[in-house]
Amino acid sequence: MTQAINVTRGIHWVGVNDHQTDLFESLWPLPRGVTYNSYLIDDEKTVLVDTVKSPFMTDLLDKIREILGPGRGLDYLVINHMEPDHSGAVKILKSIFPEMKIVGNAKTKDLLESFYSLTDDLVIMKDGDLLDIGSRKLQFFMVPMVHWPETMVTWDASTKTLFSCDAFGGFGALDGGLFDDEVDMNYYEGEILRYFSNIVGRYSPQVQKAIEKLKGLGDIGIIAPSHGPIHRKHPGRIIELYDRWSRHETECGAVIVFGSMYGNTQKTADAVARAMAEEGIENMVYHDISRSHVSFIVRDIWRYKALVLASCTYNTMLFPPMNELLDHLLNKKMKNRFLGLVGSYSWSKGALEALQAFASKGGWDLIGPQVEVKSAPGPEDLAACWQLGKNIAEKLKSCDYLEKFTLD
Ligand code: FEO
Repeated sequence: MTQAINVTRGIHWVGVNDHQTDLFESLWPLPRGVTYNSYLIDDEKTVLVDTVKSPFMTDLLDKIREILGPGRGLDYLVINHMEPDHSGAVKILKSIFPEMKIVGNAKTKDLLESFYSLTDDLVIMKDGDLLDIGSRKLQFFMVPMVHWPETMVTWDASTKTLFSCDAFGGFGALDGGLFDDEVDMNYYEGEILRYFSNIVGRYSPQVQKAIEKLKGLGDIGIIAPSHGPIHRKHPGRIIELYDRWSRHETECGAVIVFGSMYGNTQKTADAVARAMAEEGIENMVYHDISRSHVSFIVRDIWRYKALVLASCTYNTMLFPPMNELLDHLLNKKMKNRFLGLVGSYSWSKGALEALQAFASKGGWDLIGPQVEVKSAPGPEDLAACWQLGKNIAEKLKSCDYLEKFTLD
């Protein structure tokens, strides 16, 4: 039995499962780890496509050695993306395989030098250029900002395999199963959306351009991303999801996020949610801003059509974790969504005004009434919240788009 896993003719997965990193990019929680997928193409020339995060170099090298056997080295290393979760092993690999040429593009060159002081043996590719490695030619396509400016993808037309790097990838280690027909895609699609919405989603217009470019490839048989499962059974499905997400095509449902110190503001969120439930809205995700990590909230907001924000005031301003969420949402440039607002205060206003200022920055279709509560919600306040829930539910009734995967 080998540790490397055959993907298709002459292509082996030599990546690693990382269960040790708690926070991806020191920001995003990894409750079930993450993979760094690296691929070895064993042809007349030997080609490694992307590497792994540096602490996992030994694992990668063991798998490479397993396939190459004694006496063979790496002829090429393709760097689709320079972020160190994929490029972390480049410098040491180059010292182990000094003859190895590094394949990238003009923007890769700059980052290779600034990260690793590597300037020699570079093969610079332009959009559509080919690299002959024996029985096949690899082709390179630039997909800038999916996720960094130098990002590109690699296409092997002979096996119809696309090495897509961050695109179509997600969180979650792969323990045993590697392919979409071997793992619970219900879970992984949620984690692919969490990766997309928090890391790539800001660059949705560039994702759209990349998808348009990839249409020129015709049938894609296998999508081999740098994180998460390899899509061989339903490669079209993940492209379709990515297409919808990057067009801000949202599903019928609502996310309710509340920030509440003593439970009073939570009661307003409860009233909105109950009204929506009575109106038949089944897809509702409820988040306590103090306890849900922002990456899960952003993911759910990306998915659903409606958002309700209910927040208390803190020191004359918006409750700090709610403020952090708004910063994330502004950064992601979200649009085409309904928004309902509830603010509360006791001795100084602040929350509702801050929520309104956020809403005025665009991308949101404000649904009323906007509710402001002093200290604890009374019957009139709760009736207004109820009306807000009903109004949002009414809007959602015209929406009929629903996907099948569930969110943890
Ligand atoms: Fe998985 Fe942008 O790195």
